[in-house]
Amino acid sequence: MTIKINTAHAVSNNAISDLMPQVGDALLKIHQATGEGHDFLGWVDLPSRTHEELLDNINTTARDLRHECDVVVCVGIGGSYLGAKAVIEALNNSFAAYTRKDKIPTILFAGHNIGEDYLFELTEFLKDKKFGIIVISKSGTTTEPAIAFRILKEQLEASVGKQVAARRIVAITDAKRGALRQLADQEGYKTFVIEDSVGGRFSVLSPVGLLPIAVAGYDIRALMEGALSMQRDTVNANATNIAAVYAAARNILYREGKKIEILVNYNPKLHFFGEWWKQLYGESEGKDHKGIFPAAVDNSTDLHSMGQWIQDGERTIFETVLSVDAPEHSLVIPSDDQNLDGLNYIAGKHIDFVNKMAELGTRIAHIDGGVPNITISIPRIDAFYLGQLIYFFEKACGISGYLLGVNPFNQPGVEDYKRNMFALLEKPGYEEQTEKIKSRL
Ligand code: PA5
Repeated sequence: MTIKINTAHAVSNNAISDLMPQVGDALLKIHQATGEGHDFLGWVDLPSRTHEELLDNINTTARDLRHECDVVVCVGIGGSYLGAKAVIEALNNSFAAYTRKDKIPTILFAGHNIGEDYLFELTEFLKDKKFGIIVISKSGTTTEPAIAFRILKEQLEASVGKQVAARRIVAITDAKRGALRQLADQEGYKTFVIEDSVGGRFSVLSPVGLLPIAVAGYDIRALMEGALSMQRDTVNANATNIAAVYAAARNILYREGKKIEILVNYNPKLHFFGEWWKQLYGESEGKDHKGIFPAAVDNSTDLHSMGQWIQDGERTIFETVLSVDAPEHSLVIPSDDQNLDGLNYIAGKHIDFVNKMAELGTRIAHIDGGVPNITISIPRIDAFYLGQLIYFFEKACGISGYLLGVNPFNQPGVEDYKRNMFALLEKPGYEEQTEKIKSRL
């Protein structure tokens, strides 16, 4: 079994076939590293070249953290947190935060915002907990995680002493550069390296994603096996390469005026998968005043908030539905003698059957309403299929960026807010910008 794509309600097969030569060019740029951003293609063969020793090392480190800690805080932002968060939320029991499994620490996240209340409440929560920290920053200089790490490191050291704290902190960063690398070497933390050629948003299948996922108790080998199967299946420019088909369909729709893509799920466990996907596509394609705006909804929840707009608003959208074939558990709607709620007509049916009818009914309504529909079917939510899905979207993103004519692997626009923020914070070295920006206020 594998994940599948259906583009029949979005674009014609002929239109996809016509675009295959350009898809082939994009694939060549990726495989032969001849396109813009070719220094950042390390993710392409990560599944096939990740050594067993690295996976063993990650699993051993995860086991040590689990042994020492009741809570592990993952500190990072953007690509340094979203992939791990997406996979852990997808695999976790929905109530994992309230019901700890034996020997599995609660995984929390920090450094992905600058919320004073968030950090205060986190430090309060951690006061009576045995906690550890995985701090992740490729550059090692990003402000949000640096602030969170400074606060949490101080708290941990004050609570258990520097020596034990150093045992409970793992840093994932550049091999040589950046403040985090220097700090980790000086304090003697265990470290993992983010390769230069693997950009943040393409790093979930590196230690960046794998260590937090392993600490949460999930099978990183199965995740990598799923990714590897997709790596092997997405090499050629033809109709069996689902990444090629998805990238082609998006490009055709974009040229037809569909400027917004909504990633839709019908399973609340996939909410953060949508957040990860938004970063992957938003940061990769939104440049040179081009790019599909990536949005996401959780259905059926959001049918009661965004459903009206999607059905009847401006016709510049298309949908990509993540459709999970089978749930993990079984629950049937009971019959009721009085039937006051009128639900006996679906008594005996599985909840998932009702969900599937909501999905199908919505798909038909949206297609009728002029919203092209791409559906990606996933046999079930497990580590293997999440690995497939991650690699599928990464590969399609690279193809899609090149089809659009942008460099999918840089993010120059992200620097602008940082420059202004540093100027406003009066960071040393920004004196000229500080003067300029303050004169505008
Ligand atoms: O995808 C990216 O490159 C970014 O989203 C980064 O992951 C994010 O800005 C965090 O950077 P860093 O890991 O250097 O702290």
